[in-house]
Amino acid sequence: MKTICKIFVALFLMAPVALLADNGSNLWLPPLDAEAETTLEIAATEVEVTGRTVDFALNEQLPVEGFTIQGDTIQLRIEGGSERALLYGAYRLVRDWKAGRMQATYAVSESPKYDLRLLNHWDNLDGTIERGYAGHSIFWEPEEPPIALWRQYGRANASVGINGTVLNNVNASPAVLDAEHLKRVQLIAATLRPYGIRVYLSINFSSPAVLGGLENSDPLNRKVQRWWREKVKEVYRLIPDFGGFLVKANSEGQPGPQDFGRTHAEGANMLADALKPYGGVVMWRAFVYNPTEPDRAKQAYDEFMPLDGAFRDNVIVQVKNGPVDFQPREPFTPLFGAMRRTPVMAELQITQEYLGFSNHLVYQAPLYREFLQSDTYAAGAGSTVAATTDGTLFGHPLSAIAGVANVGLDENWCGHHFAQANWYCFGRLAWNHALTSEEIAREWLAQTFSHAPRFLAEAARMMLRSREACVSYMMPLGLHHLFAWGHHYGPEPWCDVPGARPDWLPSYYHKADSEGIGFDRSSSGSGATAQYSEPLRSLYDNVATCPDNLLLWFHHVGWDHPMQSGETLWEALCHHYERGLLEVAEMRTAWERLKPYVDAERHAHVAERLAIQFADAIWWKDGCLLYFQSFSRRPFPADVSPAVHRLEELKKIRLNMTHHN
Ligand code: GCU
Repeated sequence: MKTICKIFVALFLMAPVALLADNGSNLWLPPLDAEAETTLEIAATEVEVTGRTVDFALNEQLPVEGFTIQGDTIQLRIEGGSERALLYGAYRLVRDWKAGRMQATYAVSESPKYDLRLLNHWDNLDGTIERGYAGHSIFWEPEEPPIALWRQYGRANASVGINGTVLNNVNASPAVLDAEHLKRVQLIAATLRPYGIRVYLSINFSSPAVLGGLENSDPLNRKVQRWWREKVKEVYRLIPDFGGFLVKANSEGQPGPQDFGRTHAEGANMLADALKPYGGVVMWRAFVYNPTEPDRAKQAYDEFMPLDGAFRDNVIVQVKNGPVDFQPREPFTPLFGAMRRTPVMAELQITQEYLGFSNHLVYQAPLYREFLQSDTYAAGAGSTVAATTDGTLFGHPLSAIAGVANVGLDENWCGHHFAQANWYCFGRLAWNHALTSEEIAREWLAQTFSHAPRFLAEAARMMLRSREACVSYMMPLGLHHLFAWGHHYGPEPWCDVPGARPDWLPSYYHKADSEGIGFDRSSSGSGATAQYSEPLRSLYDNVATCPDNLLLWFHHVGWDHPMQSGETLWEALCHHYERGLLEVAEMRTAWERLKPYVDAERHAHVAERLAIQFADAIWWKDGCLLYFQSFSRRPFPADVSPAVHRLEELKKIRLNMTHHN
């Protein structure tokens, strides 16, 4: 007994300085050794960690995914509208326990805001991942099906309420629908089923011709329709609860109905008809743009608004949060709110394609929240993007939200330990978009690292500021797409590739010249502001009222333009880049102060990446400011640090990353 006490005391005293090494593979969850097969067994096994006695009961009065928790320290009771709901109740308790905030008594009632809460994996069948920065695909890479890993994946998703996953890239290979791949999909589906997760597939619109040998894939060709009906039947024979198809059509070179003179609605409806008898859905992406159009940001709206109301009731139009492409800051895509007779779902990007890959610490809840809480004014004030998509405003029976996953075979799943927080916060916001970024950061931190109040306060502060820091050091004031050709990591605002698609070049977006900088999307320019409802339309259209943080998105303004902040545009630009850099410097010192609370392994890992982020912030600042200075011909303000690099040097940087824009 004495020795035990001594060991206990010693461990206790050592705890802050010598935490056990942790490779991050458990994510935010407690380790689990017990095996459980069914949903109910999983739920019962998970709650054991809390030390409470919990019983479970189905209650058909509750929403199908809703649960209640009642009781006290002696006995808790979870009731749910389905077994899956009971599992969500169990994970609510696990979360409370792991975050160190178990309540003595419970009187909780929860149900999700969105029906479908999905991850989209851009995983290729050869095991690579498009825009993946955490290793190869957990689904397609390992030859031997990694069942245990898939279970952990299912568990992680269920713990935050994610209930569906699209297993392959939107740039889809027709081969995903061949017998061999469907067998694997069947196995993945069977493994994820007890966790309440349905599988979906991205399909290639040319599959009937490429895979089925038909003469074309025209959606109005009866043979094509029959081919899809047969294929869907085959899929449901293997996977009775299969979720449906995600489709990228007539976008960035992918085939689609327009190849045959048909509309997006005709293409989507053909698939919807094949899926309908089984309850499957079609998620049809609105990410379409054409190099010959003068403004890429207008095109999804122009293409899809005329089709509003033309889709079957099991079609959802999937729209990226912003009108260009997952930039550090964009206004919301105006289809949200405008498209009313068709359910619209948001596509967010969890993987950090444009946010420093898995090198930069950028917590995305503030980005997701800014978007979801944006007021579209579609039906008067308060018509937030969230309300237009969660079924409350327009009354659509089906609501959904998707996030492009950041998961790979890396030991810690996401590359950067803090990138786990982006997977986590996506799930939590899909469950409840009213949660604040701070609440989510704190609960994730407490589960993942430490309950210490000082740690939580400082680490949450660092996370909460990280997104704005990234905007500042990459693309402040509404600038966008200044990325290098071939990858989306570093800056290359000067990029010029002879013969390239103009809309894949940064100058298309920044339009810097001796007069000023920015894309005129006002009524005197491309007219994109007209796609928004009043009063936003006028607010954005008028250079005097357009918010500073979107100014260069909507306007081309002179270098001496007076900002709302009182600075000139040039000064404000310089100050933003400087601020971004200082923020990263502060993140680094904050992380150093937090060393006592974090195990050495993860601490060093994050510190190394913060050093890269700092060097990259300098690269961004110098690259952008020196280049724009060649137009503005104005000095840096006195309080902005001088450039470290020379522009000519930066222009020579070629990263070894190849991909189209
Ligand atoms: C971006 C991204 C591509 C992706 C595309 C899409 O352009 O860079 O890799 O395929 O978006 O969302 O379809």
